[in-house]
Amino acid sequence: MKGVILAGGLGTRLSPLTKVTNKHLLPVYNKPMIYYPLEALIKAGIEDILIVTGGNNAGDFLKLLGNGNDFGLKHLNYTYQEGEGGIAAALSLAEFLCNDDKVCVILGDNIIEKNIIKAVRDFEKQPCGAKIILKEVPDPERFGVPVFKSKRIVKIEEKPKKPGSHYAVTGIYLYDKTVFEIIKTVKPSARGELEITDVNNAYIERGEMTWEGLEGWWTDAGTFESLLSANQLVAKTGANNF
Ligand code: DAU
Repeated sequence: MKGVILAGGLGTRLSPLTKVTNKHLLPVYNKPMIYYPLEALIKAGIEDILIVTGGNNAGDFLKLLGNGNDFGLKHLNYTYQEGEGGIAAALSLAEFLCNDDKVCVILGDNIIEKNIIKAVRDFEKQPCGAKIILKEVPDPERFGVPVFKSKRIVKIEEKPKKPGSHYAVTGIYLYDKTVFEIIKTVKPSARGELEITDVNNAYIERGEMTWEGLEGWWTDAGTFESLLSANQLVAKTGANNF
């Protein structure tokens, strides 16, 4: 399975911290933010990894991570997203790497306490489709939120005013090779972005979406509040533990 870390976008919610650097290079406790999703993929056994970056200081990723030797990798792939076209637009840049392989995608500002090994192994066995990872949260309106009928997800709503459940769709997504065809059918949302939620809803409509819950804490780090909380959580327990 291939791995993709999405670290594009302009990080405007963290301005002025992101005025002269990329959000994913900011510190979270004792490491740059990008280390956490990278280690999450590596600890799940994924070694062929692409970093999609964009915005400010893209060259600094190369300086920081090089060919991935410090992480036990032989090689790291990089690409650059022009503008801020959305998460699905950033993912479309990974098509060249994936060919017929499945892919595990993680957002560059998502940090987890434990690991995603079970979900990755389960998805390796899943014949086709996609899998998302859910976490119960106190503020679902900040995220993609699944709506359930029994235990089946019938749709995902992006940042709904009245959330249909207490769950957030975390920024960890597992897709089969058809994801790139689906992205080509997605239209820009009201905020002008190709939304990953629309991609996930396409899999749900095809009846090909599965989900798992995540053990341990999960946080994004894209707002001042969540960045502070990410620092505190990592300082307390560490991240990417077994
Ligand atoms: O963190 C999980 C949430 O991430 C999900 O619950 C939502 O469904 C999903 O839309 C996303 O919401 P956010 O509004 O928090 O996404 P944000 O725009 O902050 O982007 C998250 C990461 O995605 C960012 O750190 C880098 C990457 N990204 C984002 C955009 C807009 C890109 O690589 N390129 C982009 O154009």
